[in-house]
Amino acid sequence: QPKTIYITRLLPEPVMTALRERYALVSEPLENQIPTGDDQRRGFAQAEAVICTLADPITDDLLAAAPRLKIVANYAVGYNNIDVAAATRRGIVVTNTPDVLTDATADLTWALLLAVARRMVEGDQWARSGQWPGWAPTQMLGTDVTGKTLGIIGMGRIGQAVALRAQGFRMPVLYASRRPCSPPPGVSTWVHRPIEDVLEQADFLSLHVPLSDTTRHLIGSRELAMMKPTAFLINTSRGPVIDEAALFAALREGTIAGAGLDVYEREPLITDGLEALPNVVLLPHLGSATQQVRIKMGMLCVENIAAVLAGRPPVNPVNRQG
Ligand code: GLV
Ligand code: GLV
Repeated sequence: QPKTIYITRLLPEPVMTALRERYALVSEPLENQIPTGDDQRRGFAQAEAVICTLADPITDDLLAAAPRLKIVANYAVGYNNIDVAAATRRGIVVTNTPDVLTDATADLTWALLLAVARRMVEGDQWARSGQWPGWAPTQMLGTDVTGKTLGIIGMGRIGQAVALRAQGFRMPVLYASRRPCSPPPGVSTWVHRPIEDVLEQADFLSLHVPLSDTTRHLIGSRELAMMKPTAFLINTSRGPVIDEAALFAALREGTIAGAGLDVYEREPLITDGLEALPNVVLLPHLGSATQQVRIKMGMLCVENIAAVLAGRPPVNPVNRQG
């Protein structure tokens, strides 16, 4: 008899097929369908395994009402949406999807950096508008990227993948992280510095820390004031790492030059007024959003579930028990 799985969201088709072949699904959500509290309680009450997303808070209450649950497979690398301590206490394995989304997220970080530096969204709007009068020497001038200093806070897998791409732009990398990392052979331009130095010296500052109690509001008005007025802030990590109200004020007042944001403090809400600023580029949390990566993330969830339901250790454990 197939085991019962609850998925909070519709997943890409090859993943749905793999799940349908092996398991009984509590329900099949539609695209963009957000589960209600009742949906979730029903799902958790029946399931031996759950696949959830970064937009689904998994609380101790939900876990307490899940008597058969063995594993929560988070369809994301960041797992701040899950009460991992509660899961661990209840013997429930939590897994995530690292590695498969590292390059896509690093690529999107660069897309944001380039877009905000070279005013790509404004330019696209102008080109489409029928109002562009033709080339002119002083038109829509942006700022240089090549040769500037890239600051990175959080030098894990994604931070390092972003730093590697800086080679092509001949950008020295200053980074703050708990531990210095060893750059790949031949790379001599990664320098480990205290966070204050990185804030003060970066022309582009990119955030790659996980969200935790220590990184919540890591960037607030004090930190923004330390940055160069010509600097740009890029965030593809988690929204609450930035105090979004402070960022809005800094952008409006010219404390920094601009920002490229993929994540927000209260998704899907975005601080009022940000959308009206010309010096920001705003994306709807697309870091891992490629067809290939979203399939790989799903297949990793399936692998982790298969392992745990067969009594084997998961491939990507977040807690160590269960
Ligand atoms: C996306 O934000 C992820 O954590 O996978
Ligand atoms: C995510 O995988 C990271 O370590 O940055």
